[in-house]
Amino acid sequence: MKITTKSLSALKTERPIVAVTAYDTPTAQYADAAGVDLILVGDSVGTTQLGFETTVPVTVDMMLHHTAAVARARPKALLVADVPFTLAHDDFSSLLHACRRLLQEAGAQAVKIEGGAALAPTVVRLINAGIPVLGHFGLLPQNVHQLGGYRKFGRSEAEKSALVEDALALEKAGCFAVLCEMIDGTVAGAIAGELKVPLIGIGSGPHCDGQILVCNDLLGLNAGYVPSFVKQYANLGAATQKAFADYAADVRNRKFPS
Ligand code: KIV
Repeated sequence: MKITTKSLSALKTERPIVAVTAYDTPTAQYADAAGVDLILVGDSVGTTQLGFETTVPVTVDMMLHHTAAVARARPKALLVADVPFTLAHDDFSSLLHACRRLLQEAGAQAVKIEGGAALAPTVVRLINAGIPVLGHFGLLPQNVHQLGGYRKFGRSEAEKSALVEDALALEKAGCFAVLCEMIDGTVAGAIAGELKVPLIGIGSGPHCDGQILVCNDLLGLNAGYVPSFVKQYANLGAATQKAFADYAADVRNRKFPS
């Protein structure tokens, strides 16, 4: 049965939620056949597929292109598309227009937006307009140039209270779930206990209501930096390179075609 924002929220009290990113049709088909609950077309498409160093250059057109490719897999999993850099801070009608296109043209069921309590009023307006929102707080990779790098959040008392405030504000705004990135595991556990909606974590320890990983990281299909919290379940990078090398050798040795 197709997973909806409502059925995903209800999983909180049943079992851990499994989420993963995908950016193309075949990867989405494999993830969906494996039974994941949520597929995110993350703006990590920029770093994992498009050769950018950060997610900052990713545009709405890129998100539409990749979200539509994933939607063509017709996944049972809930399909969520990322709202790219600074759009949520642009004028509301530009944001609404982009979110509407992600749902209407590309086939997403919901959007994810980076931003904590300060973004809650915008989230309320989107939800009132019929756009389901997955919140995202903690490390906000789109702010990488402001942060000067990626780091863990929630080690100081001030940061802990700010994280709790972010999570509660996003829930109050109407998010059907919230994602926390790189926050202290104990703080994540406490927040998951306070929220009624699911808390999906990445690099935030085992006490969240679910986990999300970037598909290239878990598949070992990442020639660049892999965060230390990632568990690699395959080494497709090495397997891919070997397949190309075997093919090249066969052609050069006149073994293929036989
Ligand atoms: O774009 C992305 O891949 C993300 C991760 C936190 C899953 O936002």
